[in-house]
Amino acid sequence: MATLDELKQQFAKLTSDYANLIATATSEQELRKVFADYGGAQGLVRNLQKHAIKTAAPTEKRNVGQLGNAAIETVEREFSARLSALEEAARRRDLERSVDLTLPGVRRRLGHLHPITLVRRELVAIFAELGFVVAVGPHVETDFNNFAALAMPKDHPARDMQDTFYVEGAPDLVLRTHTSPVQIREMLAHPPPVRIIAPGACYRKDEDPTHSPMFHQIEGLCVDEGVTFADLKGVLLHFVRRYFGETHRIRLRPSFFPFTEPSAEVDISCVFCEGKGCRTCKQSGWIELGGAGMVDPEVFRHVNYDAERYTGFAFGFGLERMAMLRYGIDNIGRFFDGDVRFAAQFQS
Ligand code: DAH
Repeated sequence: MATLDELKQQFAKLTSDYANLIATATSEQELRKVFADYGGAQGLVRNLQKHAIKTAAPTEKRNVGQLGNAAIETVEREFSARLSALEEAARRRDLERSVDLTLPGVRRRLGHLHPITLVRRELVAIFAELGFVVAVGPHVETDFNNFAALAMPKDHPARDMQDTFYVEGAPDLVLRTHTSPVQIREMLAHPPPVRIIAPGACYRKDEDPTHSPMFHQIEGLCVDEGVTFADLKGVLLHFVRRYFGETHRIRLRPSFFPFTEPSAEVDISCVFCEGKGCRTCKQSGWIELGGAGMVDPEVFRHVNYDAERYTGFAFGFGLERMAMLRYGIDNIGRFFDGDVRFAAQFQS
């Protein structure tokens, strides 16, 4: 066993080696490594202390331990001092670096709302003024909500109009082909009166310059006692004027949807030529917005509404189409390219 004096020298040698190493450490990382090598749990100083205590005579163990503790304290103190010195030096370097306050700053690029989001928010706000509240439904729908309850039983030819994505292994589930199933959800969940607007994504196997396999619709539904076709027309006209401008007119053309009777296609006076006739409206002066009609009593039967007492109207418009008309966009694909230069052009 080493004598106390010898041990003292061994500790002194370690602490002086250590002091030399940390004095030349130039980064915090380097400093921490040296500290771990000497002062860490497996470091040289602690190992020497452990070994010395183990081999010391019982009466000496206490003194030996204290020698080691003193050395460890020194190692820790010097580590903290050197760390502060390094930090202080870094701070001073930062301060000394000359700063030209007249240089222009780095301009951060702001994000942009997608035009579909802008259109959706604006439409929701307009219909909110008329007392419509937003309702939502899932994108994966049951056959019942998407078709059957909307008077399209299995094998109904109207199902062919909507090129449906089916969910593999789940014959009863589809990606909703329109937002109309939200009507069903709403009526199943609440007794009349109902006044909802349901914006959201829909899916159809369709792709060309005006169709995308994922697109957005906004659905409207109003059910109460005494709701008439005139109410539908009034609401649509109000909405078109608020959204496209006060000079716009609407036209309702007889049409067919299984879930409305009577049904109509809704046209607005062409937003490009104001009804005079141009290429976009194919010289007709009118552009189609979507479908609408009075809720078919057959739909009420599926949701247990009393068709004798209540009447209602519904409508469904494409949001992309609305955005294309509003902003003069000619290809629906632009909405889904994910190019920020596109989104950046539209401001609310
Ligand atoms: N759901 C129809 C479609 O996708 C659009 C529609 C037509 C919705 C008439 C309605 C309506 O609410 O009354 O193509």
